[in-house]
Amino acid sequence: MNPDFIIIGSGIAGLNLALSAAKKGKVLIITKKRAVESNTNRAQGGIAAVLAKTDDFKKHVKDTMTAGSYHNNKKAVEYMVERGPKVIQNLIDLGLEFTTSGGVIDLGQEGGHSHRRIAHVGDFTGQEIEKILVQKVKENSKITVWENTFALELIVKNKICNGVQIIKKGKIENIYASAVIIATGSIGQLYRYTTNSKISTGDGIAMAMRAGCKTKDLEFIQFHPTVLDKNINPKFLLSEALRGEGAVLRNSKGEIFMKSIHPQAGLAPRDIVSRAIWKELEKGPVYLDITGENSEMVRTRFPNIYKTLLKYKYDLTKDRVPISPAVHYSCGGIKVDLHGQTCIKNLFATGEVTHTGVHGANRLASNSLLEALVFSEEITDKLKKRKGKSEAFAKPSITEEKGAQIRKRIRELMWKYAGVIRTKKGLVKLQKELGKLEKLFPSSSKTNITLAETKNMLTVAKKITSSALKRDKSLGCHFITN
Ligand code: FAD
Ligand code: SIN
Repeated sequence: MNPDFIIIGSGIAGLNLALSAAKKGKVLIITKKRAVESNTNRAQGGIAAVLAKTDDFKKHVKDTMTAGSYHNNKKAVEYMVERGPKVIQNLIDLGLEFTTSGGVIDLGQEGGHSHRRIAHVGDFTGQEIEKILVQKVKENSKITVWENTFALELIVKNKICNGVQIIKKGKIENIYASAVIIATGSIGQLYRYTTNSKISTGDGIAMAMRAGCKTKDLEFIQFHPTVLDKNINPKFLLSEALRGEGAVLRNSKGEIFMKSIHPQAGLAPRDIVSRAIWKELEKGPVYLDITGENSEMVRTRFPNIYKTLLKYKYDLTKDRVPISPAVHYSCGGIKVDLHGQTCIKNLFATGEVTHTGVHGANRLASNSLLEALVFSEEITDKLKKRKGKSEAFAKPSITEEKGAQIRKRIRELMWKYAGVIRTKKGLVKLQKELGKLEKLFPSSSKTNITLAETKNMLTVAKKITSSALKRDKSLGCHFITN
């Protein structure tokens, strides 16, 4: 295989980019599990875009900036919001059938939005997007997909990226290309409780850091306020769209406590709702309650959530469901410009792994799929084929050792000290404990996928901690008390 462009990751960002990059050359997508295994596949609520006649770009920009505590890059926000309707149309052209009502796209409501603007496919939007994109990619003769292939290291020399070192079928190989694009998604598995797929171990950020890339705003880890309170990994999400259709949050006394906390009550931005739930949980369980709404509407609008909850013995139309917040999204990431360019030549990044500046200190609901669609396409203009790209690159060998214990410890420590509410003392302790874990890794140059992922988790955990320690005042998702 002699690709022109290598894309690491087969979520919405990697797949969407592959379709446009294939117009310029041969594309190889490498992905560490099956192609559909991604956070994209788990997305429920939908994609935010200005589609209603009564809505406008300025309102979407303002909502995004308000949710982000005005820490956002306004130019990037405007760039993304203005391209929203176009990327929705592109998905429709690819064959995606959004849920409609009266012949037009049905628009959902989510936290922090001043207007109904969430295009969705029932409550399984991500699964449908992933299905269509994977199908289109597999039909394209210019694109090859290598599943169960792990990106271990970027091949970088003199600040130029020449390819990727991979683990495929238990062997380490070097693959060279004119450009490499990181689309590896999130970091959720660094924490004990998360909505994120098990693929979310921060590999892209760690690899990019080792190669010399800059990261930004990694302290802003977003918690989703409402996941089913069951000890499962990943946690099952109860979409914010439920609150958009009338669900309320009740404390152990049955009170709708958000009413006294924010004018938008349960539909306030996520950081505010998560903190309020966190405090209520100290007193007793918290519930999501949609029993006041029409049962037929609940079953047809939320078929996936309804069916899944039945397995856990909750009937959404009759029962209050116990919830808690869990780690959901990384607002920061690899620093890129609006065309996905990192500070290394021929190395780009796209999707959740990046920091484009659109989310500020707390992402607005359903802006993530939008960001991935808008900015992934922008990279294509910058892709160029070139000659003489191969370089000798040392290959480590494979070991049997596993990092399971270290991984468990990282997840516990991050949950305890870098969570919804942080203290300086806790973060200092976290930094020390993570430092101790580093010494437990085998010192040889041998590796394997679990070990490599665990090392990546530790690298990113340390970076989140040091970024959080540098920010001594609370902002958005980073909330620090004494
Ligand atoms: P992903 O979709 O996570 O894809 C990452 C890819 O990289 C995967 O294929 C993975 O296998 C691969 N990969 C990772 N590391 C390696 C490696 N070392 N080697 C090879 N491959 C690798 N956002 C919204 O806007 N609206 C929603 O409704 C919504 N709902 C959500 C619900 C849930 C439960 C979750 C978890 C997230 C939700 N989000 C939502 C967020 C959104 O889904 C993600 O931010 C987005 O899908 C990220 O896309 P991505 O392509 O960047 O990464
Ligand atoms: C949800 O459906 O609540 C998730 C939406 C998002 O993460 O933007």
